[in-house]
Amino acid sequence: MSFRNVSKEAVVGSIALGAVFVAGFFIGKKKSSTMSIVKSHCGGSTLMKYVLNHSMREHPVLTKLRLRTMEDSWNIMMVACEQSQFMANLTKLIQAKKALEIGVYTGYNTLNIALSLPDDGVVVACDISEEYTNIGKSYWKEAGVEQKIDLRIQPAVKTLDDLLAADQAGTFDFVFIDADKVNYDTYFEKSLQLLRKGGIIAIDNVLWGGKVLNPSPDDADTVAIDKLNKKLHRDTRINLSMLTVGDGLTLAIKL
Ligand SMILES: C[S@@+](CC[C@H](N)C(=O)[O-])C[C@H]1O[C@@H](n2cnc3c(N)ncnc32)[C@H](O)[C@@H]1O
Ligand SMILES: *[C@@H]1O[C@H](CO)[C@@H](O)[C@H](O)[C@H]1NC(C)=O
Ligand SMILES: *[C@@H]1O[C@H](CO)[C@@H](O)[C@H](O)[C@H]1NC(C)=O
Ligand SMILES: *[C@@H]1O[C@H](CO)[C@@H](O)[C@H](O)[C@H]1NC(C)=O
Repeated sequence: MSFRNVSKEAVVGSIALGAVFVAGFFIGKKKSSTMSIVKSHCGGSTLMKYVLNHSMREHPVLTKLRLRTMEDSWNIMMVACEQSQFMANLTKLIQAKKALEIGVYTGYNTLNIALSLPDDGVVVACDISEEYTNIGKSYWKEAGVEQKIDLRIQPAVKTLDDLLAADQAGTFDFVFIDADKVNYDTYFEKSLQLLRKGGIIAIDNVLWGGKVLNPSPDDADTVAIDKLNKKLHRDTRINLSMLTVGDGLTLAIKL
């Protein structure tokens, strides 16, 4: 597997993206590298290369999907592969059977989670974009896990409400929240209801490129993330850890 490739492609992608900073749900271009922790495919350091060289054991189909995703101009949205591997290991460790992914994009992490679930496991995958999720489908099939992925194309809040209405509260083992930031608190609250005791909610981008240090009141995404970070720190319904992997990852364990 070649991470050299990835950085080259990602640099091109990032430069292209710098000019079109429009959507509210991706990681903004870094203003100061001392303030933020970067994803491995977004211009990681030599030390990050060392980490990848000594950590990654990527399934061959995951490698293919990662390289395909690097061809997309929004590849900055993809989860960092080292973070995804960690979450897949975590999913396995808690013997998860039911997982929920809020924000799929090209489905790299969805595939990783599906690979770590047992044959009768399922990952409910939420996104609003056919265009992005279609990229992943053939790879899910190639890896032989498409039957474990229940993709629902509609606003994620609607899918979470559907699951709650279908009496699925308390049945999920693992949730990954990685979609539009202004809805993070809603996603967290509904996910917490869907989660079993001892289950884990992983929340991505909790450092938001370092912007949480000084949230501008008119920056709704940063305000939403910082507010949720503060709320979770004192939330007695969970145990938590905020990790400095990727763009920041909070793990909340339901008590
Ligand atoms: C950061 S990307 C997800 C990355 C993905 N978890 C991965 O492993 O690469 C965010 C995704 O959230 C989706 N999204 C944005 N708003 C949404 C909403 N209201 N409901 C569901 N998905 C949404 C976008 O279409 C995009 O694909
Ligand atoms: C990572 O691995 C590649 C390929 O083996 C090697 O060329 C490179 O020097 C390694 N970099 C680090 C920092 O370990
Ligand atoms: C951890 O993840 C890697 C990559 O997905 C995989 O090769 C390995 O088997 C996983 N280990 C466990 C214990 O799940
Ligand atoms: C939560 O944290 C407390 C103290 O920090 C600890 O005693 C307890 O065992 C933890 N519970 C879980 C489920 O991790």
